[in-house]
Amino acid sequence: MKICSTISEARAACRDARSSSKRLGVVPTMGALHEGHLSLVRAAKAQCDAVAVSIFVNPTQFGPKEDLSKYPRQFDRDCRLLEKEAVDILFAPPVEEMYPPGAVTWVLVEGLSEKLDGRSRPGHFRGVTTIVAKLFHILEPDTAFFGQKDAAQLAVIRRMVRDLDFPVEIVACPIVREPDGLAMSSRNAYLNGEERVRALVLQRSLQQAQQGFQAGERNAVNLISAAKEVFAREPQTVLDYFEIVDPDTLDPVERVSQKTLVAVAAHVGATRLIDNLVLEP
Ligand code: PAF
Repeated sequence: MKICSTISEARAACRDARSSSKRLGVVPTMGALHEGHLSLVRAAKAQCDAVAVSIFVNPTQFGPKEDLSKYPRQFDRDCRLLEKEAVDILFAPPVEEMYPPGAVTWVLVEGLSEKLDGRSRPGHFRGVTTIVAKLFHILEPDTAFFGQKDAAQLAVIRRMVRDLDFPVEIVACPIVREPDGLAMSSRNAYLNGEERVRALVLQRSLQQAQQGFQAGERNAVNLISAAKEVFAREPQTVLDYFEIVDPDTLDPVERVSQKTLVAVAAHVGATRLIDNLVLEP
């Protein structure tokens, strides 16, 4: 695996990998890799001829009161995991490489960036789209792989790719769960034993909505209120949002009459977790 820390090295390595009409797949990450990330890498390996992974804890997507400084960083372990998956290129730049002094240019997907997580985390998606646009310019992937767990992020990135004509195919990979159903996340490492058990409320609330749907309920308000009752029985967690929305526009729907995203975010102790599922009539 070639490890690049500068933009010029990474660009040259990716161009080299794409030469002789090879398809390059890119998996953007913030490191602290878990099975969810590795599933993206495996999908990229299966669909592309060469795979580049980026590890960059992107400061611009963290709010002033968020966990940037304590976000888990495990570079050596991550490298070993990626070597094992036979990744071709790892791009792991320092912050100054991605944000030179005086950088003032942003990529903003207006409207969509203020929905779901964007409402609770102002500026978050502006940071995400800016860094992902930069990674696309630097690495020039044919295909980029993202986890369905970050469903709002996926919608925002898809819209950016469409609006700015990036020649990149976006592939969404299914949520990977722990054996008890908790969606894998680098932030799960923050949970203590009790919180880890309480965190299952996210998954239970989604299951409640799914069961209601399977029983024939199509009214979003009714599905949401049943799911919120699940949270009411777990008072130590603070619900941020439970929404039923169009997966592309992230606008709330009144009835589940086509493919619909059910998304939840909650604080379990000091840790904010998200999860979702898709309902298809
Ligand atoms: O999903 C993530 O890990 C990050 O938001 C991403 C896409 C790597 C951008 O920093």
